[in-house]
Amino acid sequence: MISKKVKKLMLTGLAVVMTAAFVAGCGNDSKPAAQKKLVVGTNATFVPFEFKNDKTSDYDGFDIELIRAIGKKMNRDVELKNVSFDALIPALTTKDIDVAASGMTITKARSEKVLFSSPYYENALAIIYKDGTTINSLEDLKGLTLAAQLGTTGADLAHKTEGGTVKEFDHSNEALLELKNGGVQAAVIDLPIAQYYSTVHKDENVKVFTYPNTKEYLGLAIGKDNKELQTEINKAIADLKASGEFNTLYKKWFNTDAPADMPVVLEFK
Ligand code: ARG
Repeated sequence: MISKKVKKLMLTGLAVVMTAAFVAGCGNDSKPAAQKKLVVGTNATFVPFEFKNDKTSDYDGFDIELIRAIGKKMNRDVELKNVSFDALIPALTTKDIDVAASGMTITKARSEKVLFSSPYYENALAIIYKDGTTINSLEDLKGLTLAAQLGTTGADLAHKTEGGTVKEFDHSNEALLELKNGGVQAAVIDLPIAQYYSTVHKDENVKVFTYPNTKEYLGLAIGKDNKELQTEINKAIADLKASGEFNTLYKKWFNTDAPADMPVVLEFK
């Protein structure tokens, strides 16, 4: 027989345990959504937007600093995952990542599969080539071997270029390495990447030709059914713009002020 006193003690103990469990449970369940990690996919081979910093071994670049600033505004820790560029949209669809911050061009075709944030960079495509080849017009591209990164707007353009052979690479730095090694005569890549590369690798004597009529905008990609996250991200971007933080970041990486006339929403006809 258990004495009344022991029984009472046991019940009190049980109550304490249950209360503790309840409180702990609340701690988890009622944790505001804002505390959840923001899982961000990137293809960190795209200097100066995203790359692995040799010195710190950490992710670095404009997109990385931008998404971290956005995470801070949203009160969410940012966890970065390095993914092949052409695997980013599938990873959003399977919810392996919440956001892709990867210099991604906002295109009509991609907009059918994912949502995009407000544009944050006005981009164009370029041809980067070695001094010795002459490229002054699209005519000059005929018959050249071209490198491009798989799944990019640059690769699409390379395929549309008449008479050229296209070599595609998983990572954009591999396309640039192929150019350096003489495996191709030119690479089709985003203009800011080409400009940055030509400034940093002066010894390689590369030249940049801006591809005519290729104006496009870069945005952060978000899962198609995650409108709420899109709204939050856009609010964070607007706040960062209003406070001047966006421009400070832009200036740090691109040495110039952010254009004042970037659209807030990109519509496709
Ligand atoms: N802007 C181009 C596109 O969306 C290329 C982006 C490549 N990004 C990267 N992180 N490698 O197709």
